[in-house]
Amino acid sequence: MSIDHVLKLYSEAIRSPYLHYGFWDDPSKIHTDDISLNDVIEAQERYIEHLSSFIPKGISNILDVGAGIGGNSQFLITRGFDVDALSPDEYQENFFKKKYNGKVKFFKTKFEDFVSDKKYDLILQSESVCYIKIDKGWEVASQTLRNGGYLLASDYFHFKKDRFSKWHTRASHDEKKYLKSASDHGFKLIKEFDQTVNTMPTLDFAKAFYERFIDTTIEFSLNYLRTNHSWYFEFFRKLFGAKINTKMEQLSLLDSNEFIKYKRYMIYLFKKES
Ligand SMILES: C[S@@+](CC[C@H](N)C(=O)[O-])C[C@H]1O[C@@H](n2cnc3c(N)ncnc32)[C@H](O)[C@@H]1O
Repeated sequence: MSIDHVLKLYSEAIRSPYLHYGFWDDPSKIHTDDISLNDVIEAQERYIEHLSSFIPKGISNILDVGAGIGGNSQFLITRGFDVDALSPDEYQENFFKKKYNGKVKFFKTKFEDFVSDKKYDLILQSESVCYIKIDKGWEVASQTLRNGGYLLASDYFHFKKDRFSKWHTRASHDEKKYLKSASDHGFKLIKEFDQTVNTMPTLDFAKAFYERFIDTTIEFSLNYLRTNHSWYFEFFRKLFGAKINTKMEQLSLLDSNEFIKYKRYMIYLFKKES
């Protein structure tokens, strides 16, 4: 992978150092229409604050796997941890280079291909679990951690699959397979927390934002084209029609009611036991 343009778009549009869902303390009190971009960024800060409360005592060095554009790494550094970062993405590598000028070690590689002499106390995988192949990921985690080290994972996993769940199951791991593989590779689950309800307001915000600004702009542009340049309209419809339909189907990923039918957004803390 050279550059993940979807993640690049998020980071440039939201202008936050985080690429995760954020954490909402009391989702029942939140009205989607009142959420602002600043609220989302504040929720993202609460997410890493909450997630880091799962880091056991005695941890000194951390490998931030799938480090994105460095928000979590920065948070952990300010809390006194010694942090190295890893991601296969060139844009993110350059971002780290500019931000830290080499002070934070950055490994540009997929985690599955990572080879390290250094043994870490803890591996953080914040919303990067779903990108990493399950078995290989646990194999590399075992090689990369010291005995008694920890893997702290925060991501969504699917627990159900049916003929409508295509996009949801494609973009996430099967929770049971993931947990079994952890145990098969000598990792014991010592803590878990279901943060699904605390993450869904961000999805509701993204869906509302899409419907209000993007959908309406597309509709306006298509109507304009159909009325004023019907030949171009037909040309684009033939060329991109099928692709646009697929993209529209993918929008179900922004629907929190669909999300909770199939997925859970979990925090898991594992300890390497053998
Ligand atoms: C949704 S972002 C999360 C970024 C960051 N951890 C955060 O919480 O803001 C997913 C991250 O995983 C990275 N990633 C994708 N495939 C990966 C792989 N095979 N191994 C390690 N990281 C990967 C992406 O480049 C990106 O940095």
